[in-house]
Amino acid sequence: MSTQEPSSSASFGQPLAGQTALVTGANSGIGRAVALGLARAGADVVVNYVTDPEAAQAVVSEIEAGGRRALALHADVSDEADVEAMFARAVAEFGTLHIVVCNAGLQRDAPLSSMTLAQWNTVIGVNLTGQFLCARAAAREFRRRGLDASVSRALGKIICMSSVHQQIPWAGHANYAASKGGVAMLMQTLAQELAGDRIRVNSIAPGAIRTPINTDAWSKPEAYAALMTLVPYGRIGEPEDIAQAAVWLASDAADYVTGTTLFVDGGMTLYPGFEHKG
Ligand code: BGC
Repeated sequence: MSTQEPSSSASFGQPLAGQTALVTGANSGIGRAVALGLARAGADVVVNYVTDPEAAQAVVSEIEAGGRRALALHADVSDEADVEAMFARAVAEFGTLHIVVCNAGLQRDAPLSSMTLAQWNTVIGVNLTGQFLCARAAAREFRRRGLDASVSRALGKIICMSSVHQQIPWAGHANYAASKGGVAMLMQTLAQELAGDRIRVNSIAPGAIRTPINTDAWSKPEAYAALMTLVPYGRIGEPEDIAQAAVWLASDAADYVTGTTLFVDGGMTLYPGFEHKG
């Protein structure tokens, strides 16, 4: 097979056949949908979690029911030893990794004057340091394995889960917005640094997606209506919207895409407040 062609199974709706993915924070919300989406696209999946092992196991069972291999692994992504142990175990079980989705993230919201250092450190630790630790481990593994062009044209793919708040300032969420702004520059710098190795690094920046992290923004009709004033497309995003983007970014269909942020936000970053003003 020519190295210019995707593998034959890739032609039949399984663009990630023969590949192994690791998704952090894959037991709920966006991470869960991404893990399931990558598996439907043909990948075996390591399902990372830090709380709720039953939920992680449920994702594993669903992936296995679809005919792919899966493994739930506990690790706090802000902890270097945890991350190193998780990658070692993943490689021991699956042989290697081709796709790493640095998804785990959280919010600890507070106005600046009452934000504690613990709230700041927790958010930066998981959302930013966690992405550094996982991206570093991913790049090391991709380089150790070497290129297998029958599986993918890239040596490996790293997808950083960012947010519209890498761009939109967010009062009352200084820790979160700073972490995602950091992810934007981390991603671009890693993309520049690793492109020569044919490691692609990209971000997805979700807008408002229906997940547990933002239940307050969508669960009540009044809150949903207020949210919609920020979303020109007129609906909340679903985790599946992000999963579809992740599958594409991880596949060879996106082989020339690196260092980019794909906003999946129903137009939230189009500054809808300016539609009839300004
Ligand atoms: C946050 C959500 C928020 C969305 C849009 C996300 O990054 O985690 O809580 O609803 O951005 O503001």
